[in-house]
Amino acid sequence: MTTVLVLNGPNLGRLGSREPDVYGSASLDDLRAMLAASVPDNVAIELRQTDDEAELVRWLHGAVDSRTSVVLNPAAFTHYSYALRDAAALVTKAGLQLIEVHISNPHARETFRHTSVISGVATGVIAGLGFDSYRLAVDHILRSAA
Ligand code: DQA
Repeated sequence: MTTVLVLNGPNLGRLGSREPDVYGSASLDDLRAMLAASVPDNVAIELRQTDDEAELVRWLHGAVDSRTSVVLNPAAFTHYSYALRDAAALVTKAGLQLIEVHISNPHARETFRHTSVISGVATGVIAGLGFDSYRLAVDHILRSAA
């Protein structure tokens, strides 16, 4: 069984009702179902969300220890969390993939969203494609593992 961790940062638990003009009207449970349906039976998608920076850091440590690749939507932490960046670097320096994803295109939004402190240590970045950003990231991880 291959597991892919899909980690989501603050306010993403509110998907569905949060700024639907920006993020769409589908929920995190819809995302979980969409991803589960897009992978073969021998792949487990473990999707989690937290509003807590420390918890997200601990999950990245856990990914290193269990040697699990990560799809990460750091949400607002993207723009300022050096703690999360350092934890993301632990993942990629361990030879695991960490793909940064965004539902919206932060570069087409407010100036503060144009900076990502995570991208420099990520394997790659996919943004602006709605839930497809996640699907393509999972797909890439599975292709590279094959
Ligand atoms: C986001 C973009 C971030 O700027 C924002 O803070 C989010 C969501 C996205 O998926 O588009 O919470 O990461």
